[in-house]
Amino acid sequence: MPAIRSLLVAILPLLASVAAHREPKTPKEIEVQRALQAAAYHCAPAVAEFTAARKRSWAQKVLAGRPSLPGYEELFASGTYNDMIGAAPHGDQTFMECSPVRDTQIQNNSCVLTPVVTEGPYHHKAGHPIRQNIAELEDGLLLLLDIGVIDVETCKPLPNVLVDIWQANATGFYAGHPVPAPHLVNEKPQVGGKRAGLLTAYPRSNDDETFLRGAWPTDANGVAQFTTIFPGYYTGRATHIHTKVYPTWTTLPNETFTSHHLAHVGQFFFDDDINIRIDNMHPYTDNPIRYTYGRTRNWRDSLNIFQDSHGPEGEYNPVFKLDLLGGVLSQGLMGYITMAINASASLDNYWQG
Ligand SMILES: *[C@@H]1O[C@H](CO)[C@@H](O)[C@H](O)[C@H]1NC(C)=O
Ligand SMILES: *[C@@H]1O[C@H](CO)[C@@H](O)[C@H](O)[C@H]1NC(C)=O
Ligand SMILES: *[C@@H]1O[C@H](CO)[C@@H](O)[C@H](O)[C@H]1NC(C)=O
Ligand SMILES: *[C@@H]1O[C@H](CO)[C@@H](O)[C@H](O)[C@H]1NC(C)=O
Repeated sequence: MPAIRSLLVAILPLLASVAAHREPKTPKEIEVQRALQAAAYHCAPAVAEFTAARKRSWAQKVLAGRPSLPGYEELFASGTYNDMIGAAPHGDQTFMECSPVRDTQIQNNSCVLTPVVTEGPYHHKAGHPIRQNIAELEDGLLLLLDIGVIDVETCKPLPNVLVDIWQANATGFYAGHPVPAPHLVNEKPQVGGKRAGLLTAYPRSNDDETFLRGAWPTDANGVAQFTTIFPGYYTGRATHIHTKVYPTWTTLPNETFTSHHLAHVGQFFFDDDINIRIDNMHPYTDNPIRYTYGRTRNWRDSLNIFQDSHGPEGEYNPVFKLDLLGGVLSQGLMGYITMAINASASLDNYWQG
């Protein structure tokens, strides 16, 4: 199998955008989201074709013309290997004949994730490096992300917008925030109220760490790809990756950036049946809350972000579609997602608590 780098080149990414979960959600806010969602829904065919094309590109370039490996959820489904039979490694022609793209079916909610979801307290306004490999020396399961961005107003991919992502490491910590505030070392998750299940955010006490943070512009096809590790969990939150999208930005001499135009804020999730497998793998098993509060399931997310994706704003799907990178899970995962965003929108770029 070729190096990761060449794998990455083959794919187009999808991005999901999330809006902030602020309370209360006014009828007007819900209406704005509904309009966005409705616009996004019209982009569903474009989104589906976008994803399928990226998967084809992956299969051809990375798997040397053989059909792509099955998604983990398809491993035991009957028929999964049918399109591999007879797919001798003769190159692209065989591939094209034998490997119908399975993912062109448009699911009603497959398309987009639109709402603007909270950025959370661990975003750094400045200092996210412009780079595709954000892993640095963090240990964990290899995860390649293929994040596509579509403009809800045109249903066309959005080239050259900056996709910024940040996430926790395998044991649930963000770069820059290694420990709780001294007086909160023994804090217990809040009971009841809008912060039920959550701890106070760990303060930023290290300005030098940048692991698992980074931004990269979408290419001509509207896709940004990243190399990272599967995120770990922390108290009260379902396993997730944050994102922001900036239509314009300025690159700084130290290869970070600033921007005054934030168009989208979101969070992406993973299916719980894959979360549970990875949580049993090293080093995820070293999570300090594994035997106390444990992992928060998607439907129990304390900020209700996953629930909101199935709420009155209309459905959207902020969950990565995952494929195995190799024959077994421990070889890593490829995650595809497409987010439809409103590039004309301009959001406040700060955490409002
Ligand atoms: C996109 O944002 C602009 C500016 O806020 C707004 O006028 C427009 O209605 C939005 N489009 C959609 C589809 O939400
Ligand atoms: C998609 O789902 C919405 C809400 O559940 C429903 O109103 C709509 O008819 C569905 N559309 C299709 C094409 O299935
Ligand atoms: C890069 O430069 C900006 C502006 O001087 C600064 O705020 C930021 O902390 C620097 N980031 C890193 C990683 O050095
Ligand atoms: C995650 O980050 C924390 C804080 O920096 C560190 O103590 C921990 O060892 C890291 N986890 C892993 C698996 O490296």
